[in-house]
Amino acid sequence: MNTSSALSAAPSSAVPHRVLSGIRATGRLHLGNYLGALKGMIELERRPEYQTFYMVADVHTVTTPYDVEELRHNRREIIIDYLAAGLDPEQSTLFIQSMVPEHLELAFYLASVSSVARMQHLPTFKDKVKQHPQHVTLALLNYPVLMAADILIYKATQVPVGIDQQPHLEVAREIARKMNQQYGTDFPEPQRFVTPGEYVPSLKGEGKMSKSVEGSYINLTDTLAEIEEKLKRVPSDSGRGERPPETGGAATLLKLVELFQGQEARQAYEAAYTGEGIRYAQLKSDLAEAVYQQVRPIQQRRAQLEAAPASVDQVIEAGAAKARQVASQTLEEVKYKLGLG
Ligand code: ADP
Ligand code: TRP
Repeated sequence: MNTSSALSAAPSSAVPHRVLSGIRATGRLHLGNYLGALKGMIELERRPEYQTFYMVADVHTVTTPYDVEELRHNRREIIIDYLAAGLDPEQSTLFIQSMVPEHLELAFYLASVSSVARMQHLPTFKDKVKQHPQHVTLALLNYPVLMAADILIYKATQVPVGIDQQPHLEVAREIARKMNQQYGTDFPEPQRFVTPGEYVPSLKGEGKMSKSVEGSYINLTDTLAEIEEKLKRVPSDSGRGERPPETGGAATLLKLVELFQGQEARQAYEAAYTGEGIRYAQLKSDLAEAVYQQVRPIQQRRAQLEAAPASVDQVIEAGAAKARQVASQTLEEVKYKLGLG
């Protein structure tokens, strides 16, 4: 593409507000992914002032040990999850990251303004080093830089993700600032789009719900019986005390009640806690029903999509083409500013 026409075709004032988010292709989605990321993605898709880009972060998956065949399968599964959760491919560009190789090229240029020490000190990096001490690679160190490239290549201003991704957003903002100062690019500084479910606690009562911690999560594909079984195993307490619990399994249950049954239901349990006591068996059974009511329509849509693989393929192909149009234009601009074009 001719650089000067690419530049004149998109003066920065004409750039619409864009949204970018992604989920790694590492397995089945859980309630944390749904409440922390997907719900925000759906909300922004429905606001007409935003142009939304949602990807499957399959390249990020190769930064930690993984199974090749599983990745091949999972990258498509996440697109199905997006559609099943209610994202509309007419409204959002749904795509697979590796099909837009411009992200990787931009990540390399962004790495030129990113310090190794800054990446090494990120809590997310330190966690992965602890989890996989034998796999501390350059790709892992570069994880936040690639994520910054994902966001900045669309000049996105809003990024719907859970609170655990906050350190990565700070890196993306720093990189945007440095690029703008050093090379005169016009990257906006992206903000995290916050949802009420930005932190869904673990069913084990410690830490966050995460697919890498067995027993911590409820999947979007779980049946009512599976949800009931998982909630039964959440450690609780005596059900009575001076103040409602703020930690442990009992606190997780109250948070889930708040997210799935509402603030009033939570307040009623809190009042019971300091009064006559909570009956956890009943709480868990009502909560299981409430969770199931939310995931059931997603499961029904998922079944329909699984029966129509060609329509999913079509979404994937069209999404990559649309994403590449925007991504290649930003990349041309950046290369020009860096003296590479
Ligand atoms: P996991 O930690 O289970 O591997 P990912 O890292 O793939 O999940 O996260 C995908 C998206 O879901 C991110 O936006 C992340 O912030 C969000 N997310 C993951 N776990 C939670 C949680 N427990 N609460 C809220 N959001 C979460
Ligand atoms: N790091 C994110 C996670 O673990 C996934 C991700 C990759 C992402 N690139 C992104 C999220 C860009 C938002 C924007 O969930």
